[in-house]
Amino acid sequence: MKNFDPERRNLLKNAGLAGAGLIGSGLALSSIAKAAAAIKTPAQTEGPFYPVRDQLDKDADLTRVQGRAESAEGTEVLLKGRLFDADTGLPITGALVEFWQACASGKYNHPEDPNTAPLDQNFQYWAQVHTGNQGEFSIRTIKPGAYPATANWIRPPHIHVKVHKAGYPSLTTQIYFKGDQYNNTDQILQKLTPAQQNLVTVDFTTQPDTNELSGNWNIYLGKFQGITAAGADRLTTPELD
Ligand SMILES: [Fe+2]
Repeated sequence: MKNFDPERRNLLKNAGLAGAGLIGSGLALSSIAKAAAAIKTPAQTEGPFYPVRDQLDKDADLTRVQGRAESAEGTEVLLKGRLFDADTGLPITGALVEFWQACASGKYNHPEDPNTAPLDQNFQYWAQVHTGNQGEFSIRTIKPGAYPATANWIRPPHIHVKVHKAGYPSLTTQIYFKGDQYNNTDQILQKLTPAQQNLVTVDFTTQPDTNELSGNWNIYLGKFQGITAAGADRLTTPELD
C-alpha cells in the first residue's frame, strides 16, 4: 500500500467512495482499485504539431538547448508527477513520457505551424523522459504562450503529452494551467467533463523568490480493454530516444 497515490485517494474521496466506507477500512488494494477504475487520465487530440524534426537534445530540461549559452525566454515551470496504473493504483516504472509545446511566443518548432510569432532558439520544444522506480518524472520548461487556433479561438497555454509503456495503449493528452483566461472557451479542453478537466489541469504555485511556477500532475494510465495479460506482455514500448 505504501506506493498508493495519496492524490488518488483524494480523487476517490471526491468521487464519494470515502462516504461508502471504502477508504481507510483496510480493504485490499484490489477492492479499492475496482472502485477507482473510472479515474483515468483522459485522452485529448494530438494536434498538428507533434515534432517531425528530430533533435539531439530531448532531455528533461527544456529551458536549455545543449551547446547554447542562453536559456529560453519566459516564465520557468517545474512540473513533477507520477505515473500510475489506473486499475491497480500502482506506479508504472520505465515508461517513456514525451512532452512537446510552443515556446513563450506561442510558436511550435514545426514546419506546418502558421503562427508568425518568433521561434526561441534557446528553447528545446520537446522532451522524452522515463519514469523512475516510483513512477516519478519531472521536467523543467517555460510557460507556453497562448496562440490562435482559428480567427475566433485562442488556445490556452498547454503542454502536449504522450505516454508509452509496454502492455498499455499509448495515451496522448494535453495539460493546462489552472485559472487561465482561455481555458473556459477552449474547444478541446471543454470537450471533457468537469471531472476530466480537473485531471489535466495543473494548479501551479508561484515561487515568491524566483517567480518560477511549480506544479504536480499525476497520470492514471488505463489498460487495454478485453486483452489478456499474456497478450499485453507481448506488446513492446517503442524505442523513441
Ligand atoms: Fe498545441
